[in-house]
Amino acid sequence: MTDAAPKKEQRRKFQAIRGTRDLLPPDTALWNQVEETARSVFASFGFGEIRPPAFESTDLFARAVGGETDIVSKEMYTFAPSPESAPDESADDTISLRPEATASICRAYIEHNMQQLPQPVKLYCMGPMFRRERPQKGRYRQFYQIDAEVLETVRPDAAKDTAKELAKDAVVDAEVIEMVMTIFDRLKLPSVRLEINSIGHAADNCRRRYVEKLRAELLKVKDKLGADSQRRIETSPLRVLDSKLEHEQPIIATLPKIADHLCDECKAQYAAVKRELELRGVFYKENWRLVRGLDYYMRTTFEITAQGLGSQNAVCGGGRYDGLVELLGGPPTKGIGFAIGEDRLILSLQEAGISALATRHSPLVYIAWMCANAYAAAVHAAKDLRAAGIRVELPPVEQKLGKALERADKLGAQYALILGDNEVAEGKWTLKTLADGTQQKLTEPKLLDFLKKL
Ligand code: HAM
Repeated sequence: MTDAAPKKEQRRKFQAIRGTRDLLPPDTALWNQVEETARSVFASFGFGEIRPPAFESTDLFARAVGGETDIVSKEMYTFAPSPESAPDESADDTISLRPEATASICRAYIEHNMQQLPQPVKLYCMGPMFRRERPQKGRYRQFYQIDAEVLETVRPDAAKDTAKELAKDAVVDAEVIEMVMTIFDRLKLPSVRLEINSIGHAADNCRRRYVEKLRAELLKVKDKLGADSQRRIETSPLRVLDSKLEHEQPIIATLPKIADHLCDECKAQYAAVKRELELRGVFYKENWRLVRGLDYYMRTTFEITAQGLGSQNAVCGGGRYDGLVELLGGPPTKGIGFAIGEDRLILSLQEAGISALATRHSPLVYIAWMCANAYAAAVHAAKDLRAAGIRVELPPVEQKLGKALERADKLGAQYALILGDNEVAEGKWTLKTLADGTQQKLTEPKLLDFLKKL
């Protein structure tokens, strides 16, 4: 075999895997701006950042999110233990790429004894999540979430004053929702719509009683439902309410509503959440069919939609999950949180014509150096300007002035710093404003002063 004819394999063109994509400039400037905005809002509400790993024990997600959910039963990227490559892993250490962040944050809360910190503990995280879903607009297999959680270990004396605890939970729920709405507001995301619901409380059994009633009603109309809903009557009847199938809509409209079956405590808590949202000027719409696709929720659930996203229009989902930390082996702990789908948020901003404030990667100054003599001065000038935070492009080879100005223009630079024999001899540099062609001669300190003021 000669080197002249590369094998077919070697000529293969690689592409990003289906459902994944490269985020490129200038879009990444908008991604950074979104993340900076979220960070600054989180800081103003007293949240600190946590960075959990991107993979965990599969069991963690099965237990937290629920073994019957689509996420766990169909969509996780799971890897069997490999005794040859990792003999230190135990036989049951099957691991999965994280499909969401709440389970990891609860695991970390327990692992780092965060119940000993002043409560509640407020954490946020940002990063990629992985779900093997059918890719379409706004739905990817690697997607990004901006996630926030409030966790609070229950004091032993809390049970003494249930009314006070319920009122406190409602305040926390409303503040968390206010926070995510503040992020969208700062980003000027148009047509944001918040929907809320209460799905009851497992311990008080109001949810179980409702689910039993719902299942009985669903069995009566089973033949009229699609295959997915028929299956869900057994596995998770609440998810039938989520169905988007057109022919099921009139049937679902006649089903019993959870609001009519809430116990007194859940009812009081839901009413208090609504009052608290009103106090904060947060507009909401109630949606009794909002049940969410993860098992850990109780009481308050919410979703936020935005425009320009087609069928995948939820930009945020969240809710309360008291008891999840306990389910994972920790102390009795309350929890509430949300995750923003960052890919969808960016899509919606772009559809609305919102881009990053400035294409901040284009240089402010292009250094046109034109003789071997000027090269060292050009390198030093670039170093000094960059140290002052100025964006500088220094071409690696000497260029004729015309060529250099053309390239500076192409890159979107605002100024060309011209360095030739004359400038080196004089110790003054020529700064050309590219928009109008005007020029001025400046010493380096004056140049720095001038550019820093821009
Ligand atoms: P989730 O509703 O599964 O909730 O996801 C939250 C958001 O992530 C969705 O509203 C959507 O914007 C985005 N998202 C989900 N899947 C995809 C995908 N395949 N492609 C693009 N975006 C997607 C959770 O993950 C919960 N952990 C939220 C939470 C935090 N609840 C309490 N704390």
